[in-house]
Amino acid sequence: MVYRSLIRPLLFRFDSESIHHSTLSLSKWISSTPLWRAVDFFLKREDSRLAQTLFGVHFKNPVGLAAGFDKDALAVPLLAALGFGCIEIGSVTAVAQPGNPKPRIFRFPEDGALINRMGFPSAGAEAVLEHLKRYQKGDIRCTLGINIGKSKITPIEKAPDDYISSFAKLRTFGDYFAVNVSSPNTPGLRQLQEKGPLRELLARLQEANETEKPLLLKIAPDLEFSALDDVIEVAEQSRIAAIIATNTTFSRERLTATTNEVGGMSGSPLYARSLQVVEYLSAHAPKNLPIVAVGGISSAVHALAYFSRGAQLVQLYTGLIMEGPFVVSALLRDLLNVCDRFSLPHICDLRGNKELCDEASRFLGSSATESL
Ligand SMILES: Cc1cc2nc3c(=O)[nH]c(=O)nc-3n(C[C@H](O)[C@H](O)[C@H](O)COP(=O)(O)O)c2cc1C
Repeated sequence: MVYRSLIRPLLFRFDSESIHHSTLSLSKWISSTPLWRAVDFFLKREDSRLAQTLFGVHFKNPVGLAAGFDKDALAVPLLAALGFGCIEIGSVTAVAQPGNPKPRIFRFPEDGALINRMGFPSAGAEAVLEHLKRYQKGDIRCTLGINIGKSKITPIEKAPDDYISSFAKLRTFGDYFAVNVSSPNTPGLRQLQEKGPLRELLARLQEANETEKPLLLKIAPDLEFSALDDVIEVAEQSRIAAIIATNTTFSRERLTATTNEVGGMSGSPLYARSLQVVEYLSAHAPKNLPIVAVGGISSAVHALAYFSRGAQLVQLYTGLIMEGPFVVSALLRDLLNVCDRFSLPHICDLRGNKELCDEASRFLGSSATESL
């Protein structure tokens, strides 16, 4: 409440990226002092009903920070201390690059949306490795995912070498790696979602994956259902550990603001489409291929809607900007209240159970289907 009524209006007076940099610098500083431990102490909600192990990786709760917020792994301890069960850093590119010219992030608070055309600004895999090496054992109190993307200077035919170069440098640090072929702001990148190029990319990555790190695949919300069938087929053949659905969208559907800004849209207007994609994937993918849902989540009601459609884990980014740093802790509190109210031994008991999720959403104050 305080964030929405006082802090957000103040922060939103300034350019999005300047605020992002200031917040990240402050978070980086806090991460280098014992202060982050105090945040962890006050915000942590550890409870065995929220924990699960998927593809051999332990998640202390099902809510992760989506890629793009801490691209260079500058402030992982503090971000983890906000309560996230997983922090996905990146996208990291093999070659350091500045990304697109600024301004490149635009806010639409009335719609709970962002449009960005960052174009993968990245310190590069080498520098990110150095940042990760700085953390002591125990500084990162959750799962660490590393999201890798293609460097702009690398031609699309050489994409596998580029991804492998980042993966090889960072492999000892990530609990899992997300292969990002779905950002809308790198020319040609989304072509890698097509059957042939995707199969080649994932086969080459798995060849280089001697220690069998879980490789996750992050896809776009703009794929047709037939293209999702191809993704499922290739993911299965390529021993992909899970699918992350979805990245930002080209569409401007459900955005009420008028804008000509080019880029990927995230936040509330993306929610309905990402839900459809997650529902389709859960219905058509093999049961042993988990789905990580992302798109427009800012409350437990949204998370419940994704669980009801079969997601095992959820992630958020725009919700953190719109609702502030306590969003995760509030979301987890609500999920635990649902477990208490419905005597659920584990949060997984909600998976695929629309009736129970709708009832739980009503208990939390609004129905999951109404929020569509
Ligand atoms: C400013 C910004 C930068 C992003 N950068 C990345 C990125 O580098 N790699 C990636 O895979 N996704 C990136 N994303 C997409 C998010 O990880 C997420 O998939 C998308 O925003 C939908 O979730 P949300 O509605 O909770 O924000 C970015 C999103 C935003 C808003």
